Amino acid sequence: MTITNDGSLAGRTALITGGGGGMGGRHATMLAERGAKVIVLDRDGVAAEEVVSTITNAGGEGLAVAVDATDIPAFQAAIRDAAATMGPVDILVNNAGIGGQGLAIEDIDEATFDAMVAVNMKASFFATQAVVPGMKERRYGKIINISSNFAMGGAPFASHYAACKSALSGFVKSWARELAPWNIAVNAVAPGIIETGMTLGSIGKERIEGLASEIPMGRIGTLDDISWAVAWLASGEADYMTGQVISPNGGATIVGI
Ligand SMILES: NC(=O)c1ccc[n+]([C@@H]2O[C@H](COP(=O)([O-])OP(=O)(O)OC[C@H]3O[C@@H](n4cnc5c(N)ncnc54)[C@H](O)[C@@H]3O)[C@@H](O)[C@H]2O)c1
Repeated sequence: MTITNDGSLAGRTALITGGGGGMGGRHATMLAERGAKVIVLDRDGVAAEEVVSTITNAGGEGLAVAVDATDIPAFQAAIRDAAATMGPVDILVNNAGIGGQGLAIEDIDEATFDAMVAVNMKASFFATQAVVPGMKERRYGKIINISSNFAMGGAPFASHYAACKSALSGFVKSWARELAPWNIAVNAVAPGIIETGMTLGSIGKERIEGLASEIPMGRIGTLDDISWAVAWLASGEADYMTGQVISPNGGATIVGI
């Protein structure tokens, strides 16, 4: 049997939105470890620069881009400018997001709702719109949306968050079928609970650690647990995988296809 692909990302350019954050930072460094040039985009420019330093100190190539993903014209211009410097984007990870725990339906006002949609749903669409023409031209692309296991199991007191993550699954299924003729694969990774700035800020360390006992595998996932899934989907090993949502969650949420 001939193996035609490996997990190497050499020669590829990747863009991670929210790449300065907990999980996005690890996606960025792992893709760089596997050979990709990585554009680390975040509204927090200092955090993005730190991730790029980690990449370059390890001998990789990275570029920090500070922009707010909800300012769509500036966001799309920043993506195009970064691609002009680092090469056309082959791998897009739509990871930027904000949390929203502890809000009953009647406590989610319109501004809170709109802010959630702007980052967790709308920005993913317009990042994808910015890179798809180049992917079509080169007949190659990997788009990975970062969803959540809340999209599968629901999220009481964070229904606006869960709805946006469910929308990302809708994008995945639609884009996968729309873009397959150009050899562009679209999938989602739906993490279970992971300790990051987002979850520390919303539910706190004690509650995060307490959740381990509710997970069949008995532990909270690590950043690597999620980035391994992203790196695999970004690689040639996943060339025939499209339109799927995979959820590294220790068995916390298990659903049928
Ligand atoms: N932590 C978890 O348990 C968990 C579980 C499932 C899914 N997720 C998802 O994973 C992704 C990463 O989350 P995380 O836990 O690493 O959180 P995080 O807060 O550490 O990282 C999020 C990053 O997104 C950036 N960001 C937010 N709004 C932005 C904007 N408007 N423009 C540009 N950048 C922006 C932030 O600056 C931050 O660096 C999010 O989409 C989140 O919804 C997280």
